Order: sequence, then structure tokens, then C-alpha cells
Amino acid sequence: MRQLKARILLNKEMVKGFYKMQIESLYLARKIRPGQFVEVRCSEHTDPFLRRPLGCHRILKNGIEMLYEIVGKGTELLSHKRPGEAIDIIGPLGNGFTIDHRPVVLVAGGIGVAPLVALAERLAFSVERIAYRKKPKIDVFIGACKKDHILCANDFKKLGASVYVATEDGSKGPKGLITDFLEDFLSAIRYPQNAMIYACGPTGMLKAVARIAETERIPCQVSLEERMACGVGVCLGCPVKVKTNDERRMTNDEYKMVCKDGPVFNAEEIAW
Ligand SMILES: Cc1cc2nc3c(=O)[nH]c(=O)nc-3n(C[C@H](O)[C@H](O)[C@H](O)COP(=O)(O)OP(=O)(O)OC[C@H]3O[C@@H](n4cnc5c(N)ncnc54)[C@H](O)[C@@H]3O)c2cc1C
Ligand code: FES
Repeated sequence: MRQLKARILLNKEMVKGFYKMQIESLYLARKIRPGQFVEVRCSEHTDPFLRRPLGCHRILKNGIEMLYEIVGKGTELLSHKRPGEAIDIIGPLGNGFTIDHRPVVLVAGGIGVAPLVALAERLAFSVERIAYRKKPKIDVFIGACKKDHILCANDFKKLGASVYVATEDGSKGPKGLITDFLEDFLSAIRYPQNAMIYACGPTGMLKAVARIAETERIPCQVSLEERMACGVGVCLGCPVKVKTNDERRMTNDEYKMVCKDGPVFNAEEIAW
């Protein structure tokens, strides 16, 4: 992990309120793993004081790409930055996805799709896949409130993945929650139990995915979001309750830090 000043290569609005930023850093390109994140300084001044955590959306040859949604002051300031400017970044941070070459199911809610693209690219271009010329078996489920917030579907399709979408207002795909669709899908086609589910999105969605994964007996990794300050496990500001090892009976709750111990956890570890 390093603090570095990286040159912005691109900062472009993709759809209203959602931006892609590419930054140049050979160090991050070499070191960062899908599911890890960086802490970004959004302003040259003290407001906002805290850095903002952003996941790695794609790993480039000479840097990384981030996909972010404007939700408040920090991300708004970020959107005004221009190519050529330098940006202060700390990373890579946290523990990323454990990558396996079993069939995979990716589940994204809204902007939670961001780190799953880096993961899908890693799975699709892994040495084993190329050496054995196996087509990756990747099923991707993307849910959002409305059509415009369904992001990256084409990126996954280009990698050979099958993509299913659902929106809460019914403007694209079936109307409803993507987790309902996922549940029907997994129970209907009896997805192999040696698969792996990876999910990122709002906590309610992750909780539902964890329950479905448990029912179907498919291992599942979730990328959690918490508000963060230090990003390195020092301030104890991003706790998540986990089950103890006492046969996971939750007799003694323990806490882990999302920034240091996560953001990716095994779903069965979390005391939802
Ligand atoms: C490990 C990690 C990776 C992330 N990756 C991405 C990413 O790739 N793309 C992306 O767009 N966002 C990502 N986020 C969320 C992002 O960090 C927040 O949206 C950002 O910090 C908001 O800053 P702001 O100043 O714009 O908003 P603020 O003014 O700080 O907050 C605006 C609103 O957003 C809510 N909010 C802020 N931060 C969070 C959070 N972490 N979780 C839930 N609600 C929050 C606040 O409660 C408030 O309602 C990630 C968060 C974490 C912890
Ligand atoms: S943000 Fe400080 S401990 Fe996680």
C-alpha cells in the first residue's frame, strides 16, 4: 500500500450521475486485485476532510479505472477533476475476492457492479482459461431501481457472460428485485454446487444473496460497504458484526473492520 499522486487520464460521465475515472499508476496496475479498493482525496482543501473509498472497476496496463456515482460532496468534487490533473490516492487497500475457476455467479446491485467487472475480466483472462481454451461460465445478475442505473451489462457480455437484469420500476427486465430472479434461477436450473457466488451492492441485497447461497449450498463472497475514515483498520470506524467460531451459533458476537478484514468476506461469516 502506498500514498501516491496519480495523473488522471480520463474522468467522463457515462450516464447521468455516473462517472468513469482512469488514473495512471503502474504500481496500482501491478499490485491491486479485484475487490480491493483505494482511498481518494477529493479536494485540495480540508473539506471534505476524509478520503472516500472507491473500488477498482478495471485494472489497466498502466493504471486503474474507477466507476463512481455522485451521491454527495466528495463524489461531486471528484466529478469536476480534469484529465492531466493529479489526484492523491492511497492503495491498494483491503482484501479482495478469492478467485476461483469454478463456474461463477456475479450479483450486483446498482453501483455495486463496479468491482465485479474487474473480477469478471480476471476470471475471463486467467492463464488457465487461455491455456485450456475454456469459455468462462459466468452468469451475471444486475439489479437497479431503473433502466439508466443498469450499468456495465455490455462489458460482461463482451467477456462471454450471460447477463440477466431486473429493475424495481420494470423499465428494463422483469419488475422487482434481482434477488427474487436469482432465487428462481438457481432453484430452477440446479446450478452446480461447486460454483461460487460473488456479490456487491446494498446490505439488504447482500443479506438476501447470502440466504439464497446458503439454501442452494453454494459458497458466496460479499463485498461490504461501510462509511470509512482511515481505511486501514486503525480508527475502528467501519465495524461489521461477524459470527464467532462457536459453530457459528452467534453466542458471542465479534466485530471485524470492513476496511482491513474486508471489504470482501465469506457470506456465512457475517452476522446478518
Ligand atoms: C470498500 C468500498 C468501495 C466502494 N466502492 C465504490 C465504487 O466503486 N463506486 C462508488 O460510486 N462508490 C463506492 N463506494 C461508496 C463511496 O465510498 C461513497 O459513495 C462515497 O464515499 C460518498 O462520498 P460523498 O462525499 O460523495 O458522499 P457523502 O456526502 O459522504 O454521503 C452522501 C450520502 O451517501 C451515503 N454514503 C456515503 N458513503 C457511504 C457508504 N460507504 N456506504 C453507504 N452509504 C454511504 C451517506 O450516508 C449519505 O447519505 C465504496 C465504499 C466502500 C466502503
Ligand atoms: S475506516 Fe478506520 S478502521 Fe476501517
